[in-house]
Amino acid sequence: MGVITVDKDNLLHTSIPNHQVTEGRVSEDIVKDLLKMCDNMYEDPNSEPWDANLAGVMRPPAKQLLIDIENPLFNNFKGIILNAAGNYIDNYLRTLQEIGQGPTNDSQTGEYEGDLNYKISLTTSWTVHQYKNDYNPIHNHTIPGWESGISGFIHLRVPAGCYEISNSDAPDGLTMFNWGVNPKNFVNEFKFSPLGSIIPEVGVFYMFPMWLNHQVYPFKGPGQRLSISWNLGVEWGDGIDLIYPPAMFKRLQVE
Ligand SMILES: [Fe+2]
Repeated sequence: MGVITVDKDNLLHTSIPNHQVTEGRVSEDIVKDLLKMCDNMYEDPNSEPWDANLAGVMRPPAKQLLIDIENPLFNNFKGIILNAAGNYIDNYLRTLQEIGQGPTNDSQTGEYEGDLNYKISLTTSWTVHQYKNDYNPIHNHTIPGWESGISGFIHLRVPAGCYEISNSDAPDGLTMFNWGVNPKNFVNEFKFSPLGSIIPEVGVFYMFPMWLNHQVYPFKGPGQRLSISWNLGVEWGDGIDLIYPPAMFKRLQVE
């Protein structure tokens, strides 16, 4: 039911994973299309502000705008994220099998008869045009009407005041995932770190379960930190209800 190691003293150790984050990179042409779309939206006084639905603490000239997902400049990217979400789910289901939590009707053979199909819908996507001192406090995503969802973001502009470019030790402009408490003391508690930092890079996107808490630190200095976020609703086939993870600890085989 996890990452299993047998050591030299024949003790069996099981480390149990928590969730999956998936990363991908788009072409420069896709980045150009998205930049053009975002800049057009930023300049257009008729663009729909999406701030009321979001956690971000953004002050003018910052903007958070609802994307028309039928926009031709968004089209190729939409295909990429829908495809990536399919890969996300396939890999998740495969990993469930590998760690012994996979669906099975027959504990002897490990066989499964059930509908594990799924449907993915892009429900919402929005821009985040962030400037110095703006930030996104810790939050997660919900999709009204959907129990299961995958969220994601891609960075399109990363100003010089952000971590790594600025050579600062401070987490300026970083995106941080958080799936636990007491992060500084995880070794004292024999846990694995419940924090994961993302150094924003133009053209790199991430996908994660919608419940996963995340935040964006503010940055200093000039320029716009630009990203697009989205939510994908997932509708499972009937078979998913049959999944009952056996969650059995593996027995050490004594010879
Ligand atoms: Fe978010």
